[in-house]
Amino acid sequence: MNLKGRSFLKLLDYTPEEIRYLLDLSKDFKNKKKNNIEHTYLKGKNIVLLFEKTSTRTRCAFEVAGHDLGMGVTYLDPGSSQMGKKESIADTAKVLGRMYDGIEYRGFAQDNVEILSQNAGVPVWNGLTTEFHPTQMLADLMTMEESFGYLKGLNVVFCGDGRNNVANSLMVACAKMGLNFTLASPKELRPDPDLIEICENLASSNNTHINFTDDIMIATQDADVIYTDVWVSMGEPDAVWEERIKLLNKYQVNSKVMTNAKENAIFLHCLPSFHNLETTIGKDIYEKFGLKEMEVTDEVFSSNKSKVFDEAENRMHTIKAVMYATLGEKHE
Ligand code: CP
Ligand code: NVA
Repeated sequence: MNLKGRSFLKLLDYTPEEIRYLLDLSKDFKNKKKNNIEHTYLKGKNIVLLFEKTSTRTRCAFEVAGHDLGMGVTYLDPGSSQMGKKESIADTAKVLGRMYDGIEYRGFAQDNVEILSQNAGVPVWNGLTTEFHPTQMLADLMTMEESFGYLKGLNVVFCGDGRNNVANSLMVACAKMGLNFTLASPKELRPDPDLIEICENLASSNNTHINFTDDIMIATQDADVIYTDVWVSMGEPDAVWEERIKLLNKYQVNSKVMTNAKENAIFLHCLPSFHNLETTIGKDIYEKFGLKEMEVTDEVFSSNKSKVFDEAENRMHTIKAVMYATLGEKHE
């Protein structure tokens, strides 16, 4: 498998075999990390992390993975580069590509990360756009495989805002890798019909299915994995909260939903999550709308079915695999 020089912009660009290879590589890197086996295979290389939105996991995963691989890492925070305001994305890509061996981008339109990649001359990695969050998916698949020992045929259910970056990417990840995908969401919040069609074709070639329902209890009755995400994503205006709460209130993952699923079902969430009042946004929403928990209850979030912190850790191992494979050194 040779992924050298490739960008990682969306899972649709990768074959199931290539994704499988990245998951195996991730497992290997996790093993090395746990056993304190040094793996500075990319010594002498440098990467830059370009963030137009905030981040905890993705930024730290890229930084630690970069350091573990022996690379120099530059972080550019939201608002501190010239990109977009004084310099086009294409020009920025050409400049960064002269200095760095790889570029991570978190921001808005998927087109931005595609333009970066077309102009950089070095691999570009998508750390989240409005449409997709592909590195998150590798960590999610890895966590599912760690929990069940296999991926093919698992029933994955996403509850909530079905047209955000995480829901879109999860539908693609399942369709590609042979998992069944069900979306429990209001009709207004379903993915783009073109993306649904692509995924339905992928799923039918794997003999799996993609289902859409507005009934969370029907959706979750045979679930192995129940996944949710915030109801309002980064970049959306605060004004949408009220309408979103009305639409998504009944898609909250609570203990009734978890007990409706298979007995050994797990709970996943890309994080960050509003499951209590310990955040400023959480408190603000409570004051305005009276909700103490949003997309998931604290009870489910803190239960032993919840694998969210394994999932968060796996961001680092999987991002390491992506950088290592695309920067192309021989694996030992
Ligand atoms: N899941 C995720 O991408 O988290 P951050 O926003 O903290 O990077
Ligand atoms: N849908 C969320 C994911 C955060 C990791 C957002 O875009 O804000």
